[in-house]
Amino acid sequence: MGEPLKIAVLYDVWGEDEEPRSEKPAETGRRRKEKEDREEILEALTKLGHDASYYVLDGRAQSLHGLAKCGADLVFNLTESYAGDDTKEMNVAAYMELIGLRYTGAGPHAHFLAQDKATAKKMFAFHNIRTPYFATVYRGHLDHAHDIKFPLIVKPQLEDGSIGIDAQAVVGSVKELMERVAYVQNEFDSPVLIEEYIEGREIYAAILGSYERIEVLPLVELDLSQLPEGTPRIASRAVKFERDSEAYKLTESKIADDLDAETIQKLGDTALAAYRAVKLRDYGRVDMRLTSGGEVYVIEANPNPWLSSKHEFAMAAKKSGRSYTELIASIVEMALNRYRLTKSWNN
Ligand SMILES: Nc1ncnc2c1ncn2[C@@H]1O[C@H](COP(=O)(O)OP(=O)(O)O)[C@@H](O)[C@H]1O
Ligand SMILES: [Mg+2]
Repeated sequence: MGEPLKIAVLYDVWGEDEEPRSEKPAETGRRRKEKEDREEILEALTKLGHDASYYVLDGRAQSLHGLAKCGADLVFNLTESYAGDDTKEMNVAAYMELIGLRYTGAGPHAHFLAQDKATAKKMFAFHNIRTPYFATVYRGHLDHAHDIKFPLIVKPQLEDGSIGIDAQAVVGSVKELMERVAYVQNEFDSPVLIEEYIEGREIYAAILGSYERIEVLPLVELDLSQLPEGTPRIASRAVKFERDSEAYKLTESKIADDLDAETIQKLGDTALAAYRAVKLRDYGRVDMRLTSGGEVYVIEANPNPWLSSKHEFAMAAKKSGRSYTELIASIVEMALNRYRLTKSWNN
């Protein structure tokens, strides 16, 4: 264990989710749908001997000013948005760099590249990483278009957390496509990403590390095979968050322990290439599809994925032999190493 540090566990609240600032773990998690990972992280940091407390960004300038004066040696960055806008993760990271705060996880450049799914896919293509063919459209403006074939999946280009992704997102005809494009534009006022739908197993690679010290943890599968016949096998909003839904109950994440060595290698290499292509660091999760023919497609790469002990990242870390506390310790250590190694943080 390294020397004790003052660590701020940083998260964001907005509007009705707002909670008073607190030095103690919150009793209930309200912002996210399940137990908050921040409670577990605070606990782990305390166990490691650090002086850890929460710091909340509430969307007001005052909370930004306060952060600049918080005196933390390191920020454990769990923000997912700013003032309710989840495309602003990059701005929070960029702000911390400007005010000279050291923080865990992705830099602003990685948030920028990964958040815009079309931009990320262009990066993947340059690195010869297979990703579904796609087109984007926004208010009559077509940005990029492969010659795509049905079935397609229609998603908001800039969201995450499966926002806008339900059974109707998968479309098989021009009529359904047009209806869904209109829906996504109206509902989310967002550019629309139209992608070829890839039938296959849903595999997640949790990756820990930066630079040359980097490790793909054991692969996790979100098993969608029990979803009722006729519904698309996708990680919809319901599958991820709606605990009372049939979709939630019929699906589960588990270590993918039935894959052959060659497939594991291929998935791992692909995930690592995607991680690097969008410049993730410390920890990240790459979401892939594995077809019955053994082809691997990258769906997206997630900077700073959710660290709840029950979820995919921690599950993979556990399988790799790390306790939850060790996982948190290694994220802290990697962040600190970065600042020791270089003054230029942008890689
Ligand atoms: N091209 C695709 N082919 C098959 N399934 C997809 C495709 N794109 C998305 N999905 C399904 O939808 C889920 C959510 O899509 P994703 O792009 O990862 O959005 P989010 O950022 O909201 O997680 C994926 O985990 C996957 O199950
Ligand atoms: Mg995803």
